[in-house]
Amino acid sequence: MKISIEVNGQAKSLEVEGRTLLVEVLREHLGLTGTHVGCDTSQCGCCTVLVDGQGVKSCTMLAGQADGSKITTIEGLGGNALHPVQVAFTECHALQCGFCTPGMIMSVTSLLSRYPNPTDEQIIEGLAGNLCRCTGYANIISAVRQAAQAMAGSPA
Ligand code: FES
Ligand code: FES
Repeated sequence: MKISIEVNGQAKSLEVEGRTLLVEVLREHLGLTGTHVGCDTSQCGCCTVLVDGQGVKSCTMLAGQADGSKITTIEGLGGNALHPVQVAFTECHALQCGFCTPGMIMSVTSLLSRYPNPTDEQIIEGLAGNLCRCTGYANIISAVRQAAQAMAGSPA
C-alpha cells in the first residue's frame, strides 16, 4: 500500500506492506534511527514519536494508520536548534546511557503540550509509559519542570 506522511516537515510517499510498523518506516525506510526500539511490545516507550502532536509508541502503530499524519521524531524536534526539552535534559543530567532518552523527550514534549505547567501527578502519569533502566527519574522530573519554565517564558 502507498502512504503519504510528513516527517519532520518533509513530505514522504512510501510503499509499505500492510503489516509494516511506523517505527520500521522511520528507522529502516527513512534512516531516522534516533527513534529507538527497546521491547517491540509497547512496554518501554523508547520508540515514542509525535503523531499530529501526540506522543505515540511507534512500535504499536501500523504505517498505514499514520497515512496523512504529521510525524515528528527526535531528529526534527528542535529544528535547527535544541528544543527546550532537550536543553533541560542536558542541563539537568537527565540521562545516563541515553537509550530511553529520545522516547522520554518526545513523551515530555507531548505532556507539556497538554499540560504546560504540569503537577507532579501529571508528570508521573505522562511518563508512565516510558521506562528508564538507568533509573534516572529524579533528574528526568527536574528536567520536565525546567523545560516547562523555559517554554512558559518563550514566545509561542
Ligand atoms: S519499542 Fe515501542 S514501546 Fe518499547
Ligand atoms: S538513561 Fe539509560 S535507560 Fe534511561
